[in-house]
Parts: sequence; C-alpha cells; structure tokens
Amino acid sequence: MIFRRKKIDNEIDMNNLPQHIGVIMDGNGRWAKKRGLPRSAGHKAGAESLKKIVTEANNLGVKYITVYAFSTENWKRPQAEVDYLMNLLMDYLVNAEKTLAGENVRIRAIGSRKELSEEMRVQIKKTEELTKDRKGIVMNIALNYGGREELVHAAREISEAVKSGRLKSEDIDENTINSYLYTAGQPDVDLLIRTSGEQRLSNFMLWQVSYAEMIFVKKAWPDFKPEDLRECILAFQGRGRRFGGI
Ligand code: IPE
Ligand code: IPE
Ligand code: MG
Repeated sequence: MIFRRKKIDNEIDMNNLPQHIGVIMDGNGRWAKKRGLPRSAGHKAGAESLKKIVTEANNLGVKYITVYAFSTENWKRPQAEVDYLMNLLMDYLVNAEKTLAGENVRIRAIGSRKELSEEMRVQIKKTEELTKDRKGIVMNIALNYGGREELVHAAREISEAVKSGRLKSEDIDENTINSYLYTAGQPDVDLLIRTSGEQRLSNFMLWQVSYAEMIFVKKAWPDFKPEDLRECILAFQGRGRRFGGI
C-alpha cells in the first residue's frame, strides 16, 4: 500500500490537473447504517471528509471544487434529517473562516436561496464576503442546488435582460448561458466524482459536466480519503479527452 501511494504521488502530473472538480458526496446514510449508527452520524462524518478533501485539492493546486451538499430534491427527506443537514451546513459556514483560514479557501454557495432560512441566507453572504479575497481554491457549496433549477433561473434572468433591452435574443449563445449560471466565470467541471457506487447525476451541474470525465467510486463519502482523491486525479490524467475531435 505504501509503495502504491508513493507511486501515485510520483505520477500525478501537476501540469495536467483538473481545473474544476465536481463531487457528489453520496453514501453518508448507508455508511452510518452499516455501523448501526443514525444517518446523522454519517452526515457528520461526511462533513469531516469534506474538510480533508478540500484541503487536499487546494494543496495540489486545483482551482475550483464544487461539492453537492443539498439538492433541490433533498427536501423530500424526513424533516428531522433536513434540519440536521441544514444545521450542519450552517456550522460549516460559520466555522469556515477559522477551519479553512490556513487553507485560503474562497467559499461560495450555489443554488436557489429563496427556500433557505433567513439565518442561512445571511450566513452565506457573510461567509462569501469574508472569504472573497482569498487566493486559494474556490469552493462552491451546492446548497439547495439543482441543475434544472439553475437553468430555469438562467432562462428567467435572460428573458428579463431581453425584455429590458440589455440583451438581443439573436446574441444569445453558449457564453451567454454560461454567464447566467451560478458558476458564471468559472471553467466547466472536468472531473466529476461520485462516491457510494451510484452511477447517476441526480440533477448535478447538468450544463457544466457536458465533457467531464466521470469517476464512480464504491466507497461511501465518509470513507473517501485524500489518497482516493489523488487516485481519481491520476485516473483522470489517464483518460483520452477528445471533445468530439479525433
Ligand atoms: C449524501 O449521503 C448526503 C446528502 C445527500 C445530503 P446520503 O444521505 O444520500 O446517503 P445514502 O445515499 O442514503 O447512503
Ligand atoms: C445527491 O445524492 C445529492 C447530494 C449528494 C447532496 P442523493 O442521495 O440525494 O441522490 P439520489 O436520491 O440517490 O439520486
Ligand atoms: Mg444518497
């Protein structure tokens, strides 16, 4: 195992890092169930995993990471679980300044804010403001995020711009759409990782993953370690990306 890790360290090509990693952090509930623990314990362990993975990505020099924390569909879960997740995310945002200070992480939230509590909306703004001048990795926390909702939101904003004369409908192109997404100004996701063995997008970044390399990992999110991230990056670097060419 030590040999293998060393081999991975030697092989990661620092000039060919993914620019933007998307992570569907899945499997917290099953991780807990396997240990006879409540699902909340899985989410708590998952939050610990997140800190380590963001730190690792930042140390490697990855510029953007988007983590799927709460989907527009996750409101269907029992109220107690929804509340637990919201509290955990709130703690994460509150502590982000301290815990990720040394890491220089810039934190943003992507997704629809209007369904979130007032307290959460205020905290998001605060955390974004406090970390906005940092020079390290940009971390997008996808919170009440859905890829379809993002596109609906963009369509509304674009039609407003057309209506008010700021934009001509014949000028709408892919760059226009990009600039109205929550991830405006950021590169496409080039590496998408989903843990826990599920192989689906679950409404995650439908536009941005068009040409992403996808890696599905069997391990549940709380078991996903920095060395697993390195292994995913190595696998990414071994893929032949053609973007429709030959
Ligand atoms: C991912 O773990 C975390 C969130 C969706 C918030 P799950 O809670 O989906 O865990 P499983 O898939 O039920 O094991
Ligand atoms: C996707 O996981 C959402 C997050 C990781 C936040 P889910 O566990 O909600 O997805 P499905 O229900 O298995 O598709
Ligand atoms: Mg799940």
